[in-house]
Amino acid sequence: MNHIPFHKLYKTTECYSAIDPEKLASNDYHNELNHSFSEMGFKNHFLVDSCTRALEIAAHCLGLQKDDEVIVPAYSYVSTANVFAKYTCQLKFADSQESHPNISASTVEPLITQKTKAVVAIHYGGYSNEIAELRLLCDKHGIILIEDNAHGIGAKSGADYLGTFGHFAAISFHQSKNIHSFTGGLLAVNDMRFLPAATEYFYKGTNRAAFQRGDLPFYEWTSLGNSCEMNPMAVAFLAQQIGLLQQINEQRLKIWNSYQQAFEGCVWNFVADGIAQKHTQSSLLNDSSITVKESGKMQHNAHIYPLCFPDENARLQIEKTLKEQQIAGYTHYHSMHKTRFGKQFGDFQTPNADKFTRGLLRLPIYPGLAYDRVIEAVFDVYNNL
Ligand SMILES: Cc1ncc(COP(=O)(O)O)c(C=O)c1O
Repeated sequence: MNHIPFHKLYKTTECYSAIDPEKLASNDYHNELNHSFSEMGFKNHFLVDSCTRALEIAAHCLGLQKDDEVIVPAYSYVSTANVFAKYTCQLKFADSQESHPNISASTVEPLITQKTKAVVAIHYGGYSNEIAELRLLCDKHGIILIEDNAHGIGAKSGADYLGTFGHFAAISFHQSKNIHSFTGGLLAVNDMRFLPAATEYFYKGTNRAAFQRGDLPFYEWTSLGNSCEMNPMAVAFLAQQIGLLQQINEQRLKIWNSYQQAFEGCVWNFVADGIAQKHTQSSLLNDSSITVKESGKMQHNAHIYPLCFPDENARLQIEKTLKEQQIAGYTHYHSMHKTRFGKQFGDFQTPNADKFTRGLLRLPIYPGLAYDRVIEAVFDVYNNL
């Protein structure tokens, strides 16, 4: 029986072979990528070495002081919180929605105080159903919204790409993502007020950008910063991968839809059932008092196919039996404020995040996957529980 891995890289050899050494030596791949990302609506962006780095730059730009508060999702990867935990600010952990791991305006609002400086939202699995509402809420309270869009390259809410709704957005090009540069990321600075601070941090805490433009005779140390740039080989590789984005996302969506067709209505398929419904529905946001983009049809990028079982035992049993059938399936995050390090930030009631911590299981999804075998195995296991 062939092993079915959780993820497989796509056209790696082809992408490497296509790299032209002459173009690599010039800035051509960089310019090509910048053009593609600008077309997606990321007007001011930086190619960086990880999504974590992009979040680190955004955190720096906030100028956080002791006692400031930042609201982060309880159910997310550690990077979403870690970059803020480095400052002496207070972290607050927002719960997921009842039927989806994302946070929402209603799980965030009770945590907002006079001290709240920023809200960080993720688009779990490259799907967003609340981002316009969250922006609206943040604007009402004068709070900065950061989209941790690690999963969501190529996904949209209405006519706009995820990553264009927040004041900042971060994307991951880690090899586990739909397209990748092995490791890599993008920071979008959607609010021009933060561009100077982000630029100095990106250039290791210097005014090198002004020097490169010819505005200064030399560059010097001007602020805190770090070495953030994406490696030129990674840039060249990503320039090949971005040409495959549509193809990859379409193939993943086909598999996602086949899972959905098979599992629709099963009690443990409620997350995907909700996504499938919203994926075709249109929900327009109307609030004439504040300018915010309209959210309409959600176009997810099939980054994850999540099942959610009623308890940890059921999930562990399924995970184990899939493994015996040579099929990889993985759980995901742990409510961060319940981890060894996260406990210091206090106790937060997050029943939905805890439910996803215990019960969520991700199925393999990648172009070329023999998904029929996965579907059969899930039914086989579940019927025998
Ligand atoms: C929600 C989220 N944010 C941030 C990251 C970190 O991404 P990177 O590995 O590119 O730093 C991940 C990693 O998968 C993630 O899932």
